[in-house]
Amino acid sequence: MAPFILVLYYVALNLLLYDIGSKEPFLLPRRINFNLLNKLIEQAKNPRGKLGSFMLGIMNSAHTEMNKWAFEQMTFRENMKILDIGCGGGRTIQLLSKQSPNGKIYGIDYSQQAVNNSIKANKRDVATGKVHICQANVIDLAFPNNYFDVATAFQTHYFWPDLENGVKEVYRVLKPEGSFSIVAEVYKINYHMDSYNTKEEIEQCLKRIGFNKITIIENKTKKWICIKGIK
Ligand SMILES: C[S@@+](CC[C@H](N)C(=O)[O-])C[C@H]1O[C@@H](n2cnc3c(N)ncnc32)[C@H](O)[C@@H]1O
Repeated sequence: MAPFILVLYYVALNLLLYDIGSKEPFLLPRRINFNLLNKLIEQAKNPRGKLGSFMLGIMNSAHTEMNKWAFEQMTFRENMKILDIGCGGGRTIQLLSKQSPNGKIYGIDYSQQAVNNSIKANKRDVATGKVHICQANVIDLAFPNNYFDVATAFQTHYFWPDLENGVKEVYRVLKPEGSFSIVAEVYKINYHMDSYNTKEEIEQCLKRIGFNKITIIENKTKKWICIKGIK
């Protein structure tokens, strides 16, 4: 019974999320649909409790394909210090750990539920000290200047209340020549962001903060975007 409910829920969630793109609710009556939708969006923004934990599990599977595509746009070495911002359920950290076998991977998320789930998903690497995960807001990172080789932000920047200060903080903790990649589904950027939602605006924002060699790569079929800047 449980797997059946899981599949049903997953289908419903996907339909609802596609729904955001079309702005035309079709699964349930409009009012119920929007209430449910707001609850799900709140949980994606700051996962809490059992429902949050469940959503983090869904995100782990739903985002894997996009993560792998985005990794093809990045450069990894075997001993890098990598920061994953808004690490959610911790799947990205697992994948990053494979990209840098002798590296150190750090995950931060402002949801305690996400931190708990990420630690669980990476328990072996956490036990050996290869992976560190802690609760933090992107605008206030407890890391020294010039610390990371790579920083990633998957499906999270559109939730940051202060994007510009978040990006400034990422710039501070990156080493010179370090790279920062923002990866997201385009329709979520358009849905959640009133500003910085065009390629020009986000590029200008990264430039203002000091990033250079900015590249914007799109997967037109899947409607994914990877915005990358070098410190
Ligand atoms: C949609 S989930 C994406 C999770 C994961 N990166 C993935 O791709 O599956 C967004 C995550 O960003 C986190 N988040 C949102 N705003 C944040 C902020 N200002 N600082 C740190 N984490 C944040 C949320 O708590 C949530 O876990």
